[in-house]
Amino acid sequence: MKLDVLLGLQWGDEGKGKVVDVLTPGYDVIARFQGGPNAGHTLEFEGQKYVLRSIPSGIFQGDKLNIIGNGVVLDPALFKAEAEALEASGHLLKERLHISKKAHLILPTHRLLDVAYEAVKGDAKVGTTGKGIGPTYTDKVSRNGIRVGDILHGFERKYAVAKARHEQILKSLNYEYDLTEQEKAWMEGVEYLKQFFLVDSEHEINNFLREGKSVLCEGAQGTMLDIDFGSYPFVTSSNTVCAGACTGLGVAPNRIGEVYGIFKAYCTRVGAGPFPTELFDETGDKMCTLGHEFGSVTGRKRRCGWIDLVALKYSVMVNGVTKLIMMKSDVLDTFQTIKACVAYRLNGEEIDYFPYDIEENLEPVYAELPGWMTDMTKMKSEDEFPEEFNAYLTFLEEQLGVKIKIVSVGPDREQTIERYTE
Ligand code: GDP
Ligand code: IMO
Ligand code: MG
Repeated sequence: MKLDVLLGLQWGDEGKGKVVDVLTPGYDVIARFQGGPNAGHTLEFEGQKYVLRSIPSGIFQGDKLNIIGNGVVLDPALFKAEAEALEASGHLLKERLHISKKAHLILPTHRLLDVAYEAVKGDAKVGTTGKGIGPTYTDKVSRNGIRVGDILHGFERKYAVAKARHEQILKSLNYEYDLTEQEKAWMEGVEYLKQFFLVDSEHEINNFLREGKSVLCEGAQGTMLDIDFGSYPFVTSSNTVCAGACTGLGVAPNRIGEVYGIFKAYCTRVGAGPFPTELFDETGDKMCTLGHEFGSVTGRKRRCGWIDLVALKYSVMVNGVTKLIMMKSDVLDTFQTIKACVAYRLNGEEIDYFPYDIEENLEPVYAELPGWMTDMTKMKSEDEFPEEFNAYLTFLEEQLGVKIKIVSVGPDREQTIERYTE
């Protein structure tokens, strides 16, 4: 029996999709536990690139079962488009993808509400992906949501009630819209969903564990976007932390084995909100260009900066990370000096913890390390690592108190180096 969790430690887009795909051969089941189509998980192999939004990243490896858990919010129209594109490229899903009946549905009006609420916020807007994530989780928590299982009975009435309520709010916000096209695509999505196995995934997963099978839980977003522990209110609307795997799949905390914490060798953020190590100079532009830092869902330019070890330590703590995975090391291949934020200066005083309000005037305090100035993209084993790169790894491990198990040196599945196997 084994249930491991893989999640992002920064502000999302750490490379979760790539690593889940790489680790999938070691598991029987891959399960998404929160978030929705705000996620964009990129995988590259055999010269092909795929971006997954709602479907778990274990879908490309053999006949592994993939589960969309109860903690996820699902947009049937986007799901249909994503699933059909995969099927068209030869990846058959129907037998290999189960969907929890308890996952909540994103309605077309949720998407409108997302955009309308952002417009009302003006300069204080969160910079959401506009996919209806916040309004859907709001309805879930306020007990007004519609779940995937509802499409099998009593759906029309529930939909009409929810839609009428949303339309009333939209009217009060003076938000103009035309739902016709979106609603049509959405209803087609609902019909399409009925072809899939709609399951009680908590029973399914616990039965698998009892049978000795292994499960990898795939997080979306990142710890700094967690509704409780992220840079609130500039966060997403779900628990992206490890505990989210328990509530988002129906597994007990004592079932969790390894917690893989994944981070970039530097740091990015898309959308609004505080980012203490953000760079506004050519160094930041260089990271953005070399790292192709443009959102996989919205195409927005990602803000870039040096790695923030204060924030990372906090993420390691709240998730109980047991193994670290460092991504996009190759992006720093041509930097003479690498900086790492080891503390913040707040009102003239140095602090080494993540404060309540990171919107305060936080000035990063940096340690500087020599860059490795070597192309790492073709490396196959850690024996080839330059000395300066090893020094960077050792420094990070000492700061974070956890070993770095995997290093990624390029977007392709093959560009992944495992440092130790246990
Ligand atoms: P996710 O949301 O955490 O799955 O990450 P995204 O897919 O949104 O963003 C990660 C981006 O970095 C994708 O475009 C990946 O193809 C790419 N990527 C992943 N690992 C590496 C790496 O080690 N080096 C480089 N250069 N790109 C990478
Ligand atoms: P993956 O899984 C990066 C950000 C949005 C916005 C905030 C709230 O690919 O790492 P939302 O639409 O969730 O209400 O937006 O969260 N955000 C992400 N940023 N990667 C993601 O997912 C994100 N999902 C949401 O930009 O700042
Ligand atoms: Mg992403």
